[in-house]
Amino acid sequence: MRTQVAIVGAGPSGLLLGQLLHKAGIDAVIVERVTGDYVLGRIRAGILEQVCIDLMDEAGVGARMHKEGLIHGGIEMLFDGKRHRVDMNKLTGGKNVMVYGQTELTRDLMDARAAAGLTTVYEAQNVAVHDFDSTKPWVTYEKDGQQHRIDCDFIAGCDGFHGVCRASAPRSAIKEYEKVYPFGWLGLLSDTPPVNDELIYVNSPRGFALCSQRSKTRSRYYLQVPLTDHVEDWSDDAFWQELKLRLDEEARAKLVTGPSLEKSIAPLRSFVTEPLRFGRMFLAGDAGHIVPPTGAKGLNLAATDVKYLFDAIVEFYKDKSEAGIDDYSRKCLARIWRAERFSWWFTQLMHRFPDDGPITAKFQSAELDYLMNSEAGLKTIAENYVGLPLDFGG
Ligand code: APR
Ligand code: PHB
Repeated sequence: MRTQVAIVGAGPSGLLLGQLLHKAGIDAVIVERVTGDYVLGRIRAGILEQVCIDLMDEAGVGARMHKEGLIHGGIEMLFDGKRHRVDMNKLTGGKNVMVYGQTELTRDLMDARAAAGLTTVYEAQNVAVHDFDSTKPWVTYEKDGQQHRIDCDFIAGCDGFHGVCRASAPRSAIKEYEKVYPFGWLGLLSDTPPVNDELIYVNSPRGFALCSQRSKTRSRYYLQVPLTDHVEDWSDDAFWQELKLRLDEEARAKLVTGPSLEKSIAPLRSFVTEPLRFGRMFLAGDAGHIVPPTGAKGLNLAATDVKYLFDAIVEFYKDKSEAGIDDYSRKCLARIWRAERFSWWFTQLMHRFPDDGPITAKFQSAELDYLMNSEAGLKTIAENYVGLPLDFGG
């Protein structure tokens, strides 16, 4: 088989890239290791920045998102038993975020791909990337016991943190930066109305908590837990009880509990690969970087990588220029490190670290107090949370 762009991975990055390329008349094939249902079964964050919303529109798949997504102009921060609101809309001159689950976004992209009759090979085994240091790269995979080959101009490595593309880059050409946090997030999804209209980020003496949501009737909550905890040991009751202990009086009284639809523990990691381009192979999304979820940047960063990659590929075909692909890594990494920094900073501000003594809790409390009472402090949180503009810093 021959295509222009072979995309490895049908998560949000691969699907979004595929859809944008299709709209631009560029041919792409996606190879994915697991089934579509498996991809949709992974519960991830659900906060879209404006740049991500715009990209879904550009890809022509924004209709349901605009109908069902909830616009949020602020977040709340709870510490020392008191809640404070960050009025992001006012602080950023009118910017908001949208609550729309990654699962829904992925489903919209999958449906559009299927409706357009585009090729996605699910359950592709032993995917391998070849000759990406030449102008004739190729991808192989096995399916139903048969070996297949895709010849292409470019390989897009959209295959997540554990994918094959980054692992295939020459070790001498790659540098990886990593920080693993000494705790995880235990998440619970339930068909209960959210405790609050807006998200509540909680710094409590018992650890971090987050009250998030998917819709007016579906909530998503998180608790900071030790890495040694197992999800099987957390009954729904134990989860709700612990959450209540981390909330303020008003939220505790208002919290509606119910059976979990999903419960899982996710580790927290900061990770960046440099560079993101290896000849004719490009890494995008989780394949190139991971952020801890505290700032909800993972999906948004993936989307902006895809935007930069898409623009570069279009420039290559339409203008016969390699300037865009040459600049891909630099451009992405500038944005990635800004979001990495914010996610790391917000994580260390809101969590209790096992080795921290009482003085660190006092530092956190004083910093939060400063941030909530300073226009500059509030703006710092707001402008990062809604997402820095695509052209920030050039
Ligand atoms: N061959 C083919 N496909 C693969 C391979 C492989 N060897 N390895 C992984 N994949 C697939 C995975 O099964 C997955 O469906 O690549 C896809 C990668 O998807 P994601 O992990 O969701 O990564 P990405 O599309 O970049 O999305 C980033 O996901 O983790 C969140 O916070 C992150 O929201 C962000 C988003
Ligand atoms: C979520 O809704 O899953 C979510 C929201 C905000 C975050 C992280 C996760 O910062």
